[in-house]
Amino acid sequence: MRMRRRGAADPALAIPLETPRLILRDFAARDFEAVHAFSSLDEVTRFLVWGPNTPLQTRQTIQAYLDDQKEKPRQNFDLAIVRKGEGRRGAGQRLIGGVGLKLCDGENLTGEVGYALHPDHWGQGYALEAAHMIVHAGFGDLGLQRIIATCDQRNKASARVMEKLGMRREGVFRQSKYIQGEWRDEFLYAILAAEFLR
Ligand SMILES: CC(C)(COP(=O)(O)OP(=O)(O)OC[C@H]1O[C@@H](n2cnc3c(N)ncnc32)[C@H](O)[C@@H]1OP(=O)(O)O)[C@@H](O)C(=O)NCCC(=O)NCCS
Repeated sequence: MRMRRRGAADPALAIPLETPRLILRDFAARDFEAVHAFSSLDEVTRFLVWGPNTPLQTRQTIQAYLDDQKEKPRQNFDLAIVRKGEGRRGAGQRLIGGVGLKLCDGENLTGEVGYALHPDHWGQGYALEAAHMIVHAGFGDLGLQRIIATCDQRNKASARVMEKLGMRREGVFRQSKYIQGEWRDEFLYAILAAEFLR
């Protein structure tokens, strides 16, 4: 899928992205343990469309990320959230989760953001910091017009992150997903470039 209204170069995020406390970088095969540590947890995936992952599923997920990195133009930017180390040369850096931006409708310059963190690192503003950075880059580097996010209606933490990003709840899709034996209601949130950059 091609992006509309683009110059000659393919749009791309300037990875790694950096925030005061975090580095958002591409995943690598060596990240398996850190990724599996959170993606295999029921408390992390309870409201998600995937998981809890088996080791094989985590390996397949990372392989899909590696494949996405080679795509031209790239459509999916799933990035590792790495807490900056305090030591020299980044010693003590730690992968604490993932944040992603995917071009879900390139024709209409629309992306979708998502995030998940290991519970050891919840409640410290990391999700908001990471999501804010990738949304900023999505509007800036990718020139998006609109970024959306969805979450299970019961996922208060995720909805709060979206609201703190300045996203507006545009609707609720009732019983729109059948996951793990139950029908789930889903919120749709969105923010426009002009609102975010204001
Ligand atoms: C959603 C998630 C990423 C939030 O991560 P986090 O780093 O704890 O979030 P932050 O610390 O940046 O918090 C941002 C805001 O959400 C609020 N928040 C976080 N967890 C909350 C909870 N369980 N209930 C209500 N509000 C919550 C915070 O208090 C903060 O708002 P405040 O500044 O007004 O207090 C994390 O809970 C998670 O990984 N959940 C499992 C995966 C998931 O559901 N991902 C979303 C997919 S749609």
